[in-house]
Amino acid sequence: MGEIDSALVSHPGVRAGAAVALGDRHHRRLVACLVPAHGPTDGPRSAGALSPDAVSGDGRAGMLFDELERVEFKLARHGVRTDLTAVSAPVELPATAGPPVRASQRRYGDRPVPLAALAALLECLRSHEGGAMPKHAYASAGNAYAVQTYLHVQDGRVTGLPGGAYYHDPAAHQLIPLRPGATLSRDLRFGADQQALDTAAFTLFLVADMDAIRPLYGVRAARDLCLIEAGLMSQLLEDASAAHHIGLCQLTVAGGAETLSEPFRLGDGHEVLHALLGGALLRAGERPAEPVDPAAGRALVEDVRSYLAARLPEYLVPGQLVTVDHLPLTPTGKVDRGALAHLVAAESREADTTPPVGELETTIAGVFQEVLGIDSIGVGVRFFDLGADSTAIVRAFRILQSRLARRFPLTAMFEHGSVRALAAALSDDAGVDGGRTELLAAARHRAGLTRAVRRRQQPTRGVPATREDRA
Ligand SMILES: Cc1cc2nc3c(=O)[nH]c(=O)nc-3n(C[C@H](O)[C@H](O)[C@H](O)COP(=O)(O)O)c2cc1C
Repeated sequence: MGEIDSALVSHPGVRAGAAVALGDRHHRRLVACLVPAHGPTDGPRSAGALSPDAVSGDGRAGMLFDELERVEFKLARHGVRTDLTAVSAPVELPATAGPPVRASQRRYGDRPVPLAALAALLECLRSHEGGAMPKHAYASAGNAYAVQTYLHVQDGRVTGLPGGAYYHDPAAHQLIPLRPGATLSRDLRFGADQQALDTAAFTLFLVADMDAIRPLYGVRAARDLCLIEAGLMSQLLEDASAAHHIGLCQLTVAGGAETLSEPFRLGDGHEVLHALLGGALLRAGERPAEPVDPAAGRALVEDVRSYLAARLPEYLVPGQLVTVDHLPLTPTGKVDRGALAHLVAAESREADTTPPVGELETTIAGVFQEVLGIDSIGVGVRFFDLGADSTAIVRAFRILQSRLARRFPLTAMFEHGSVRALAAALSDDAGVDGGRTELLAAARHRAGLTRAVRRRQQPTRGVPATREDRA
């Protein structure tokens, strides 16, 4: 292995590399793992699963960190009051509109956004001169309009707009270049999946200039009022986006906001409040945008393959090369080949493109293609590896139940997390229900869920349940 490792790291595009042997002694195959010197690991990162470490101090108390418990909690819809005993019959309100068309978009079409479409989108944030103060489509406390809009554009993804950092001047309705060619720092972390981040055409940042409002309201109230303003702006943008064939997804900035000061030329009084990811709206049946970096990764892999072939005896040239973010190390700092073998096995599974077989697999694959906006799904690939988050899985769960005209527990989607595994479990009802009991028992055991259960058992939450209670 040492010989392969040395040849790997002597390639100028490889920062670190190691080979592992996979399989049993009858069917062994050599796999080389390489960490590119530049490339796939650059750019903002997904904040990943929520962990207690990511939440500071007191904020952590009572929070749910287990994925399953969080989904259970969301499904319980605690935001809607069910504890109210009506004094008299409820007043029926006639429904006049169907379900909203607005929806977050986390997959984008593989075509650039026309500059005219971006301009039309930003129109909703434009200010219009007329009276003593300019008029906007949204309200702002004290007419301060302290929340500013900044834009980061990926090169080549907005027609006629070079990649880089811009400020949107709402009065002139102009994009003012701040740092041409600027890329977003990899220290910037968002609450979004990596594929959404890697395939977006642009990111909009809503940034409060606290100096433009603090003198009117004081620190605390000024920040709250700016957050409301950012919410109003986000809603306008989301409402306008589909008409201009743009898909948007609001993004929580989970860390590294300070890295935006340089490209956006922000001062001490600026505070990054919120972000929206955008790209060409993905049309039905259209190919979604591919992450730019993995393509570069593939080119590197091909180059390293011929490089190794020219330097090593044939039997030592690895049959498979994969790029990884980092090499796992043992406590003594050596490459942990056991852990690496696991990592590679997972990568190989990810590359599984086996199409679905039979009605059930085809239905499940179809639902996930629809929800994730992708063209095809390998039946062995984990839903999470396809970019599904818990919200997408719950959405797929609901569609699947109605399409299959049968009920099954949500836990099955997590427990059997690929098309093949889920189809197998659903063909065997006993397996599905048994899994739910087991999983829920384990989940209830953990501290987090007890809070959700307690809330369901004590529904008043400090609010009088009926008018009599209030009296
Ligand atoms: C303040 C706020 C922050 C959000 N942050 C994220 C985020 O970081 N990542 C993400 O994928 N979606 C984010 N969303 C989008 C919500 O997940 C989404 O609105 C919700 O799942 C409902 O789905 P819909 O917008 O398609 O109706 C955010 C939404 C809001 C209002």
